[in-house]
Amino acid sequence: MELRRDVCGGLTDRVLEIGFGSGLNLAGLPAEVASVDAVEPSDVGWELSAERRAASPVPVARVGLDGQRLAAPDASYDAVLSTFTLCTIPDVEAALAEVRRVLRPGGTLHLLEHGLAPDARVAGWQRRLDPLQGRVAAGCHLTRDAPALVEAAGFTVDRLEQQYLPGPGLGKPWTFVSLATAVRP
Ligand SMILES: C[S@@+](CC[C@H](N)C(=O)[O-])C[C@H]1O[C@@H](n2cnc3c(N)ncnc32)[C@H](O)[C@@H]1O
Repeated sequence: MELRRDVCGGLTDRVLEIGFGSGLNLAGLPAEVASVDAVEPSDVGWELSAERRAASPVPVARVGLDGQRLAAPDASYDAVLSTFTLCTIPDVEAALAEVRRVLRPGGTLHLLEHGLAPDARVAGWQRRLDPLQGRVAAGCHLTRDAPALVEAAGFTVDRLEQQYLPGPGLGKPWTFVSLATAVRP
């Protein structure tokens, strides 16, 4: 929750969240957020978020089912939030192109994502485990480098903090996380 609050810092006005899930980020939203539009394919996830949405002072609307194809007009959001979602979207480049399209110039993408570790030994295990991970965890990848993907999509990363979450060493393929913000030029 501490990391979720941290990544939500600076979100403002109209926010789009891709991979809304069960709404865990709602509790971390700053007061400057006016509304959240949620993109979430899973009806189960959406139902699980019901209580959190009801308790949220910020209005939340489900506006889509797929981050790869957004219905919103160009430049219609002030900020976009993604937590532990870029690992799962099948065509992540398409999703980031859509995020860039719907963000206004100067708008920010906030992300908290697990992904490719800098240590060769951990990265080797991530590559070996990736096919199994995809099968048991709904298409999740261990080997995506979210900040690099965001830069490649034309954003400027202006904050990047990376760490292994606390836990046993065996968990390292799953626990290397990036907390980043990136500006849409
Ligand atoms: C690991 S969960 C993270 C959920 C939430 N963001 C969180 O931090 O708890 C990944 C989420 O991505 C969603 N997802 C999968 N494919 C997606 C897509 N094409 N577009 C948007 N979200 C997607 C899943 O339904 C799921 O809610």
